[in-house]
Amino acid sequence: MRIGIIGAGAMASALGGGWATAGHEVRIGARSADSARALASEVDAIGGAGSDADRASRPVVDVRPATISAAIAFAEVVLFAVPVSALTELLTTHGAELAGKIVIDCTNAFLPDESAPDGVTAFVLSEDAVAERIAAAAPKAHVVKAFNLLAAEVWAGADRVFDGVRLAVPICGDDAAAVQTVARLAEDLALRPFTAGGLHRARYLEATSVFTVGLWFAGLDARAMLPPLSAAFAVADA
Ligand SMILES: NC(=O)c1ccc[n+]([C@@H]2O[C@H](COP(=O)([O-])OP(=O)(O)OC[C@H]3O[C@@H](n4cnc5c(N)ncnc54)[C@H](OP(=O)(O)O)[C@@H]3O)[C@@H](O)[C@H]2O)c1
Repeated sequence: MRIGIIGAGAMASALGGGWATAGHEVRIGARSADSARALASEVDAIGGAGSDADRASRPVVDVRPATISAAIAFAEVVLFAVPVSALTELLTTHGAELAGKIVIDCTNAFLPDESAPDGVTAFVLSEDAVAERIAAAAPKAHVVKAFNLLAAEVWAGADRVFDGVRLAVPICGDDAAAVQTVARLAEDLALRPFTAGGLHRARYLEATSVFTVGLWFAGLDARAMLPPLSAAFAVADA
């Protein structure tokens, strides 16, 4: 699949590296040509890592730097891996270029929580429905929210199964084919996709992110809040 990544930071590296390893063609589109080149080289190296035998068993890695417009034009799937503060400018300039593309929104509108006690790291959201805003600004794109819940280090890491449970990626979007495509891209990263409803539900993923990150920064294990499926009351009777 042809993937265009907009942004050249931590998420671009983590997800781009995984997709390059899985054999997808990746273009890194950044506002600075130097950043695009540097990140493309990093992602190319991730995609090409491993032994000779590993590499021989995988498709040839194809990762290149690009302008933002060229990365979008190349792509079937575009990943927005930029700060939320960049979206207005990005969508104003490039929104029309996204027509017909699947756009993965992994962004979170985090701001420091000014009410947190001194020395405590916590965040609030500067807005509560970023994915819906992207969809409104690029109405001909198929916007899908995914990969916003966990740190780039987790996506870049090798661990995928914790306490016997494969790490899941909730995915929200209105276009069923786009959601399925993103689900396959999650599987390509050895993750388990959870299709989690329409784009109107993406705001809950955004809220979940800021809430769980607050718990983790407080040293609390967010996972401990949730019982296994078999003990959850909301399960429909079989
Ligand atoms: N990092 C995480 O653990 C994590 C986890 C989940 C979700 N997210 C979300 O993912 C998104 C990206 O995070 P990140 O950690 O990858 O950020 P990052 O490392 O700071 O990288 C952000 C990238 O966006 C580019 N950028 C900034 N303003 C731009 C603009 N106006 N136009 C085009 N490009 C612009 C930056 O380019 P320059 O280099 O030119 O500044 C940089 O390449 C954010 O919305 C974040 O909330 C992050």
